[in-house]
Amino acid sequence: STIFANVQQGPPIEVFALTQAFRDDVNTPKVNLSVGAYRTNEGQPWVLPVVRKTEVSIATDETINHEYLPVTGLDTFTHAATELVLGADSVALKEKRAFGVQTISGTGALRVAAEFLFNQLKRNTVYYSNPTWENHHKIFADTGFTNLNSYRYWDQNKRQLDLEGMLADLDKAPADSVIILHACAHNPTGMDPTQDQWKQIADLIERKKLFPLFDSAYQGFASGDPDLDAWAIRYFVDRGFELFVCQSFAKNFGLYCERVGNLTVVQRSGATRNMIHSQITLLVRGLYSNPPAYGARIVSKVLNTPALRQEWMDCIKSMSSRIREMRSLLRDKLVLLGTPGNWDHIVNQIGMFSYTGLNEKQVAILIKEYHIYLLKTGRINMCGLNTGNIEYVAKAIHAAVTS
Ligand code: LMR
Repeated sequence: STIFANVQQGPPIEVFALTQAFRDDVNTPKVNLSVGAYRTNEGQPWVLPVVRKTEVSIATDETINHEYLPVTGLDTFTHAATELVLGADSVALKEKRAFGVQTISGTGALRVAAEFLFNQLKRNTVYYSNPTWENHHKIFADTGFTNLNSYRYWDQNKRQLDLEGMLADLDKAPADSVIILHACAHNPTGMDPTQDQWKQIADLIERKKLFPLFDSAYQGFASGDPDLDAWAIRYFVDRGFELFVCQSFAKNFGLYCERVGNLTVVQRSGATRNMIHSQITLLVRGLYSNPPAYGARIVSKVLNTPALRQEWMDCIKSMSSRIREMRSLLRDKLVLLGTPGNWDHIVNQIGMFSYTGLNEKQVAILIKEYHIYLLKTGRINMCGLNTGNIEYVAKAIHAAVTS
């Protein structure tokens, strides 16, 4: 007999299961449009040249050792990350009422934020968009939140943001609810509110006394301009909100497996800083003691060295513009093929993903008959497209839609 006899088989994690299925698929051609990871026009992962160069210089730097980092991470990294998101001229930074804590990428930032909100602030209600990154629900549920809700976000018929639905649902949220907002490049829809729409969202969050928590996984990667991609967050901060920002450096530095993240805390007054900092320190101590140094050293060195920072800016511009080109190309090809429906949403969306509007049946056809892997919601990773496979993908979409 075994004590493990009653352990049930858990469900697969769709996005990783699809990537495995793609690897196992012996057919050609095949295309992986599932997991959100950048690919070059040759379909290969990309180590940013500035990252490679910095890795080499760190590896040969005799002054660097492998002692523990502080529990809340590498200071030069957290300062640079916090400044990247809030802006160098941020009033909150000048007034010393914002600080950062290094985390295990964006997921870790979300988990630390959720733990703090649940244990310290006794929050138990969270709202995330419908649809959202599936892990939002899991992170808050695993933390102990029992009141998990979604707000309307995507209008599947019009293939655009459902602002009215969003505002109506948030209007019903009880005071103190945590509201997860995607800072830019909404995952999975690729559809962001306009600046005017953000103002309406902020008005409502203020009036209803809700707590904004920004998930920022694509700063700079979305538009090519880190300031533009942080617009919504900075707007909220300028309006005086207290809030959290969960930053990931997976996509904008291509450091997926190195788990580089930062949790930025913005307060009304710096007087609460030490108390919050000490509680987050204890929380991290109980979760994983202290964060890994490797990726944080790379990001810190790049952001803190003007010449390297410029090289990074060039890299994010080249990634975001390649994605934009793929958006136009895919839309144009579908229009040329006469594929039924309007495909303009593909170019109106931004960032890594497009919510194509394809239904589950059409997705199944793409996977089974064309070996094109995508989430069953119809989300595709735009970076998986390139000039070599886009014709194939467009024709397959056409066939799936008209079948
Ligand atoms: C995605 O949404 O595909 C990525 O953010 C990877 C992940 O962790 O789900």
